[in-house]
Amino acid sequence: MNKIEQLRHNFLADIEKISTLQELEELRVAALGKKGELTLLMKELGQKTPEERRTIGAELNAVKETLTNALDQRKTQLEVDSLNARLAIETLDVTLPPRPVLKGTIHPLSHVMDQAIHIFGQVGFVVAEGPDIEEDFYNFTALNIPLEHPARQEQDTFYLPPSSADGQPVVLRTHTSPVQIRTMLNEKPPLRIIAPGRTYRSDSDATHSPMFHQIEGLVVDTKTHMGHLKGCLEEFCRHFFEDPNLKLRFRPGYFPFTEPSAEVDIWWKGNSWLEILGCGMVHPNVLRNCNIDPDVYQGFAFGMGLERIAMLKYGIEDLRLFFESDLRWVGYYGFEPESRE
Ligand code: PHE
Repeated sequence: MNKIEQLRHNFLADIEKISTLQELEELRVAALGKKGELTLLMKELGQKTPEERRTIGAELNAVKETLTNALDQRKTQLEVDSLNARLAIETLDVTLPPRPVLKGTIHPLSHVMDQAIHIFGQVGFVVAEGPDIEEDFYNFTALNIPLEHPARQEQDTFYLPPSSADGQPVVLRTHTSPVQIRTMLNEKPPLRIIAPGRTYRSDSDATHSPMFHQIEGLVVDTKTHMGHLKGCLEEFCRHFFEDPNLKLRFRPGYFPFTEPSAEVDIWWKGNSWLEILGCGMVHPNVLRNCNIDPDVYQGFAFGMGLERIAMLKYGIEDLRLFFESDLRWVGYYGFEPESRE
């Protein structure tokens, strides 16, 4: 085998062996580049006789063409291989759900609380808070609930060991009404607050849970009267239940801390009255307990169960499911963040 034949043979063998485009480029330079082996042989032609130039020249040209073709073919092959390899890894699963995937939802109770705060906020109520673990004084005594009142009995109230500081009885608050007392003791009228929060009673069935939520309202001013109370609750209910013609019924009721007291029913789906809240004019004893002169100030107050109004609005049947943390339930009844509905 002569030198040219040898060169052709070696390069063709190398071209077969390479596996990357970079190796291919290096090989092309080594054979056909400015200082490539074949190029050097061609340069040497000048020193040959005309006869040799013709035969060797032809031979070199033929080899050059063979190598160029082989390199081109190999290049195409490598490109196809690398594309196939990418296609094999970068698969696309067209059965996946479209993005964005909604994962977290707002719990219906949080949603209802936000709505209530929003509606009352628009007419000037501000949010007030109190502790879940409450002194007997705020939960009962100051609210004109005398010692022998049935609401104090063990079956309703969760009692905790008395506070070590002053021996005062301590309870899990049974309603949000103690926030009325805390507000009146700490701030000067006129007052206009709502107090949403957790409440506790020893009771459990499809419509009762030992922990539930209420939203309390309190307005104290010099000329506050029952008409204000009725108008306020009517407006709230019509906005909340999104029915501008919703009918309300105020039935006489009894709460130790309001006088007169009423229970409010709404006319639901054109077929029945459903009770949704308790309310009344703040009892003069309660104002007095908070150092507010009942001859100067009057007030109204109301308290309603948040689970109850959520169940009505969204057709939720069992109250206990609110607190099961079942993701299927929350996914079904929950709300998209930022939607007001
Ligand atoms: N606290 C009462 C309850 O839990 C509701 C209520 C609040 C009634 C304010 C009148 C005024 O049942």
